[in-house]
Amino acid sequence: MTRMMEGKKAVEWYTMLWANVKGPKILEVGVGTGRSFTYYPPDADITAIDISDRMLAKAKQTAKTLAIPVTLKEMDVQKLEFPDNSFDNVVAACTFCSVPDPVLGLEEIKRVTKPGGKVYFLEHMRHDNRFLGKLMDLLNPITSCLIGPAINRRTLDNIRKAGLEIIKVENLGMGGILKLIVASPNKGD
Ligand SMILES: C[S@@+](CC[C@H](N)C(=O)[O-])C[C@H]1O[C@@H](n2cnc3c(N)ncnc32)[C@H](O)[C@@H]1O
Repeated sequence: MTRMMEGKKAVEWYTMLWANVKGPKILEVGVGTGRSFTYYPPDADITAIDISDRMLAKAKQTAKTLAIPVTLKEMDVQKLEFPDNSFDNVVAACTFCSVPDPVLGLEEIKRVTKPGGKVYFLEHMRHDNRFLGKLMDLLNPITSCLIGPAINRRTLDNIRKAGLEIIKVENLGMGGILKLIVASPNKGD
């Protein structure tokens, strides 16, 4: 699945995702194999989590090879082991297609983001077009079986349901299925 996000276009998308991410404290959720490591801002204090120990093992190796200073932890985004208001910015790339309860995970992100902080997402989701969206709903059981993640998540709605405030949405590739989203934790700042 992560191979779909390789190539020149992906470099552009990940560069856009990380362009405005600021510390000092940053959390990446669903780090995977560490694809974002080369985009991390220098001098930030970055923690990256993933639910999969096998993904984390790969990420650990990548961090070592590239000498990236990152704290890697095995953790479920639906139950983050961090106190409230721990991070200045939180980032997720292609993660919320596979989190079982995305709204719960997003509520946890809101909880750990500091007031005035920002949350950055690069996520593929259900198509906005009614016909194509329905088609994705029909295909989802098959594609989920074959590749794992869901193709029909209503991620913008889920972000709002979790109480985050969407500040910016940019359609990237795949006919608008892939979006760059910036959100605020909406804590009265
Ligand atoms: C498609 S991969 C994307 C990985 C990476 N962000 C990237 O851009 O290449 C999705 C990742 O989310 C992780 N993930 C899925 N559910 C999770 C959860 N509940 N908590 C934390 N990580 C999760 C998976 O283990 C996987 O590494």
